[in-house]
Amino acid sequence: MCGIVGVVGNRNATDILLQGLEKLEYRGYDSAGIFVTDASGKTNLVKSVGRIADLEAKTGDNVTGTAGIGHTRWATHGKPTEDNAHPHTSTSGRFVLVHNGVIENFSEIREEYLANDTFKGQTDTEVAVHLIAKFAEEDGLSVLEAFKKALSIIEGSYAFALMDAEDADVIYVAKNKSPLLIGLGKGYNMVCSDAMAMIRETSEFMEIHDKELVILTKDKAEVMDYEGNKIERQSYTAELDLSDIGKGTYPYYMLKEIDEQPSVMRKLVSTYTDQEGKVTVATDIVKAVQAADRIYIIAAGTSLHAGYASKQILEELTNTPVELGLASEWGYGMPLLSEKPLFIFLSQSGETADSRQVLVKVNELGHPSLTVTNVPGSTLSREATYTMLIGAGPEISVASTKAYTGQIATLAFLAKAVGDADQNPKALDFDLVKEISLVAQSIESTLSEKEMISDLVAKLLPEARNAFYIGRKQDYFVSMEASLKLKEISYIQCEGFAAGELKHGTISLIENGTPVIALISNNEEVAAHTRGNVMETVARGASAITIVEEAVAREDDDIVINNVHPYLSAISMVVPTQLIAYYATVQRGLDVDKPRNLAKAVTVE
Ligand code: F6R
Repeated sequence: MCGIVGVVGNRNATDILLQGLEKLEYRGYDSAGIFVTDASGKTNLVKSVGRIADLEAKTGDNVTGTAGIGHTRWATHGKPTEDNAHPHTSTSGRFVLVHNGVIENFSEIREEYLANDTFKGQTDTEVAVHLIAKFAEEDGLSVLEAFKKALSIIEGSYAFALMDAEDADVIYVAKNKSPLLIGLGKGYNMVCSDAMAMIRETSEFMEIHDKELVILTKDKAEVMDYEGNKIERQSYTAELDLSDIGKGTYPYYMLKEIDEQPSVMRKLVSTYTDQEGKVTVATDIVKAVQAADRIYIIAAGTSLHAGYASKQILEELTNTPVELGLASEWGYGMPLLSEKPLFIFLSQSGETADSRQVLVKVNELGHPSLTVTNVPGSTLSREATYTMLIGAGPEISVASTKAYTGQIATLAFLAKAVGDADQNPKALDFDLVKEISLVAQSIESTLSEKEMISDLVAKLLPEARNAFYIGRKQDYFVSMEASLKLKEISYIQCEGFAAGELKHGTISLIENGTPVIALISNNEEVAAHTRGNVMETVARGASAITIVEEAVAREDDDIVINNVHPYLSAISMVVPTQLIAYYATVQRGLDVDKPRNLAKAVTVE
């Protein structure tokens, strides 16, 4: 994980680095640092444990310069301390490095090349900058040659930005597996982990591919491979809107993003319908699904839950079996695959390293793949055969909300387009555009109940240390997502359970006052069974509440939501659970958008 930013040229580097790091804070917020220099040779290195605001306070007004690199950290090797915070320096202080990723052979490098060196911290990055310094200072190589030699030895994932304190005109950049992008300005150039953190300065970007090196000066970005062969790369203009990354009057991004879900639904309708209102998805993607005998959805966390919630509609409308794969497990090896598999990578960030390692294998095997993501130009999008965009706008809060609902809706458009093309009666009978607009209305109606939901949370969860969500069928998948949301931001331990499975062991955890939240969508038989399971927990002391679709609601239900089509119920049923997680966290006085130990894009395996 971690976020990197660098700038060289005619700008106030300190400001640009601090503003960039603020935007990158979602990638990690254990500690941060900047290195700033200028043509006079003055150098400044400032590091701090904690948030970017702490770094900013420590930086003050005297840290000025025209070039520099900065970093916000999500600890992998070594605790979050100032010594472990980036930028890291060589013993002489001449070489300065920021890094995102994991250097797998750093212990071997230390033993083989740097046995006599003393290190300030425990990070793999410090080993890398010592290695570069050794080749430059002891072996007399130029900075570029020393960097290239180090890159030929370093194994693992990395996005590097390197500076030589004796030369304020150049930033050396390299990447393998970790995301990194060049931003081009007039009289200055930048490097950054993502485009959003640079859009205040530029909308002109240039990609860097794995195992490429870039020499970045104020006037040019020279791309080459590790042998030094020049590579021609066109830049592109990104259509990103600065206003999308503001919080407006909201106290937290998460609440803003929950509120945006009805408009995400409506925007998806306009993205995936033609002028006659007919659902339309790129023909080559539809053909790829038609050609497949099995769909494998690979994802992690919330995106995996969106995959589960999409299985039914995909199977029924495309007539193709769907199998789910946990990205962090599938990287170790594929199960027995069908003859004509199609892999779908679900990822809001498009950068998840666990998913990417599976995509690399899929590409080696020569199978087609589709990435469904919220981030155009992201790694998973670039490396898959096809991409479908969610178009939910930037999701800044670490806890994913609108990307989850957007993923399910996007896959519904795919299922419908394929089903229509196949003349599948189930698809022809299913008016997705109308149903999505009902979903948007249902979400709006839930959003108008925020106060009631907040009060309910204050009664149910004030002291809770643990809780359960239960549900059957689609509601079970929503239970998994609801419990992840609650635990990741409020730190209440929570399990999402198939309601019928509780009695097979886990019910022993229910005691006086244990909160149980039951999800009951519109299916009479399932509703009756789940209600039975609720009673079983209440009989053992649980404090139960229910979230129920109107058609199967009773007077004593707690949250009643508008009915939607069963294919899409996971979208509308999740919204009250997002609000429950939000209010539980606010009521505990915790930082909703930046829960401890987490980061938005998980770019380490
Ligand atoms: C939780 C959350 C994570 C991500 C997971 C995969 O709110 O956001 O569980 O879903 O880290 O990330 P993406 O979707 O970017 O691949």
